[in-house]
Amino acid sequence: MKRIGILTSGGDAPGMNAAIRAVTRKAIFEGMEVYGINYGYAGLVAGDIRRLDISDVGDKIQRGGTFLYSARYPEFATEEGQLKGIEQLKKFGIEGLVVIGGDGSYHGALALTKHGFPAIGLPGTIDNDIPGTDFTIGFDTATNTVLEAVDRIRDTATSHVRTFIIEVMGRDAGDIALWAGVAGGADDIIIPEHNFDMKVVAGKIQEGRDRGKKHCLIILAEGVMGGNEFAEKLREYGNYHARVTVLGHVVRGGSPTARDRVLASKFGWRAVELLKEGKGGLCIGILDNKIVAADIVDTLENKKHRPDLELYRLNNEISL
Ligand code: F6P
Repeated sequence: MKRIGILTSGGDAPGMNAAIRAVTRKAIFEGMEVYGINYGYAGLVAGDIRRLDISDVGDKIQRGGTFLYSARYPEFATEEGQLKGIEQLKKFGIEGLVVIGGDGSYHGALALTKHGFPAIGLPGTIDNDIPGTDFTIGFDTATNTVLEAVDRIRDTATSHVRTFIIEVMGRDAGDIALWAGVAGGADDIIIPEHNFDMKVVAGKIQEGRDRGKKHCLIILAEGVMGGNEFAEKLREYGNYHARVTVLGHVVRGGSPTARDRVLASKFGWRAVELLKEGKGGLCIGILDNKIVAADIVDTLENKKHRPDLELYRLNNEISL
């Protein structure tokens, strides 16, 4: 394979730039040419494509977001969109594609693979909800950003003896809430993958109060419900001086952590190794600390992401 393309798609995630850099530099090292596609699949269909050189990816590793921009483009779910995309790839002489993104982006890569075009998926989303990998690019940074906010909120919660409900992103997954909750010493973590009983939540807050505990921090994954709705329901059980903080998109920005930069670099490097061998139809991941490549069709159709529910049990037993 002599010429490859790269795009980022779906919600951006810190570390995407580090992955683009790794793919570009490794490909050039291997004597290949790299074409960057702007705005994900939307740019692919529109032919918004340009050659990337070594210096195009310089001074990017530390930057959040994606310098290739991103977009949500549901039209790529149609065969018409996919064939237009392949037409553009062929027009530019691109023989293989690296797609960095989340679930929707992987489905695009799967569609290209089914049409016989070699595509490789790299998991890039703060949500950590991609099958075939323990961690995604951006998850560590997002979790640390939430953690910083949690630590700050704890100060004011203590001063005012308040309960805080901190709503965090994650779409239908509770990973960010779980990890930031354990790291931040949350009193409760509410995630979609585990049911909860508001009466028990309220009872726990009351127990803490009775012991003289000043703050109470509840980390709520957005996939369960909104923070304000949660606070309303909690009020039915008592007045815990609840305040709600919705962290929202703040969590998607910022300079990637070392862990995300290294992960992104490893994923990107491996993707090019595989394309160089003419392999496609794969998705890269990290399982038990090893970089792996699995069949993208099998992964998307038969594997499911599960958060580390041991963290949930652990938190219940140590956050008294
Ligand atoms: O998938 C990443 C994510 O940030 C989710 O956590 C969130 O639910 C969603 O994207 C928000 O999407 P948008 O930026 O399109 O509003």
